[in-house]
Amino acid sequence: MKDREFPELPPKFIYRPDLRHHVTPKLMRDEPIHRWFVFPHSYSPQLVGEVIKEYPLTKGATLLDPFLGAGTTVLWAKQNGFSATGTDLSPLSVFVSQAKLASYDSVELASALRYVLDYKIVSDDLKQHPERIRRAFSQCELMNIESLRRRIQELPPHLSPFFILALLNVQQKLSRAVPDGGWFRWVDKEEQSSQISILFAQQINKQISDLINQSTQQIGNWSVYLLDARRLNTIDGVFDALVTSPPYPNRHDYSRIFHMELLSLGASEEDIFRFRHTSIRSHVEARTPDIQVNGYYLPPKLERTLNILPENADPRIAPMLMGYFEDMYYCLKSAYSRLKPNAPCAFVVGNVRHAGVMVPVDEILIEIGEQAGFEFDCGWVARLRGNSAQQMAIYGREPSRETIVIFYRR
Ligand SMILES: C[S@@+](CC[C@H](N)C(=O)[O-])C[C@H]1O[C@@H](n2cnc3c(N)ncnc32)[C@H](O)[C@@H]1O
Repeated sequence: MKDREFPELPPKFIYRPDLRHHVTPKLMRDEPIHRWFVFPHSYSPQLVGEVIKEYPLTKGATLLDPFLGAGTTVLWAKQNGFSATGTDLSPLSVFVSQAKLASYDSVELASALRYVLDYKIVSDDLKQHPERIRRAFSQCELMNIESLRRRIQELPPHLSPFFILALLNVQQKLSRAVPDGGWFRWVDKEEQSSQISILFAQQINKQISDLINQSTQQIGNWSVYLLDARRLNTIDGVFDALVTSPPYPNRHDYSRIFHMELLSLGASEEDIFRFRHTSIRSHVEARTPDIQVNGYYLPPKLERTLNILPENADPRIAPMLMGYFEDMYYCLKSAYSRLKPNAPCAFVVGNVRHAGVMVPVDEILIEIGEQAGFEFDCGWVARLRGNSAQQMAIYGREPSRETIVIFYRR
């Protein structure tokens, strides 16, 4: 690698190219149970392992993840002898994490699979499904999916999430709405209704084999809540460490990226709007929360960044960035109240570029963490990412850091 590919870093930052795949879901796709459902924005469980290797905890310690996503931190904790609590505002995150964390009996699951596969096609009024779902699947595919879903609903409640998760996985394979950046695009796909029960059985068998191969009985408590990360003061317990990854201020909106999955889980359009409007202000449609926390002031590095945004920048970007970092302050402040003294806290964040201006999210987060009472320990730069095609076409390429910012709670 040439030097110009490794630009100079701020103080206490180091390059960790060995972690470049850890901050993405690449390694997770081969990890038992984690792979049951992967978010495109997940980090891999090995990342949590690296943090805890560097900041060791005693066995039985409890981790906190305020932005749960696909449940990576909490499941890693379960698989490695720690307890953990996670929160997320997305019903999809909570559902997926609960389904991965539950205990199952593989013999009972195998017999439930036989029952589910013996489903009959029920002719349904397909018009009752939201328009997007009807566009994502052929009529015949949708009838098969719905018939399977009904059969799953007849299972005892402790088994159905395991099967619904597999069905979501199959739906993603068939769907003509493919996640793409902060939204999804429509693609052409062959009609695959005849494959649905085969794909479903394959997915269930893969999940069962992960359970059979998993190591001995785990001891601990693993809880996940549908809760705003800015209101962690409302959860019970005190925590020994925090490993998380908040949304990046890149305008991606999880309520849109996972619109299909949220609808499939039964969320109404109103629920989805609520999630969109109450999520962290990382996109322009999120609204100012009704939260009063004193002590926040505009971090100097953010002020400098806002001052160099060009006049022709989208006028919604500056308020979004101001809201985003204010939200990070609320989140850090509320996390502080739940952490033990000297607890290590790792935040995976990505720098973003708007109107050609690089926003040093990692450095601004350090200023905010210090405002909230944390002590910055170090920054691991896992990779340098390209910019969006749009930004590169207009402003050229400027690599943006993806960094693990590590604090200590004082
Ligand atoms: C980058 S993802 C986390 C990925 C996770 N580390 C994993 O490995 O899957 C960010 C998450 O933040 C959630 N989120 C957005 N606003 C939130 C809020 N106010 N409180 C809690 N979670 C929120 C999103 O639903 C999304 O699941």
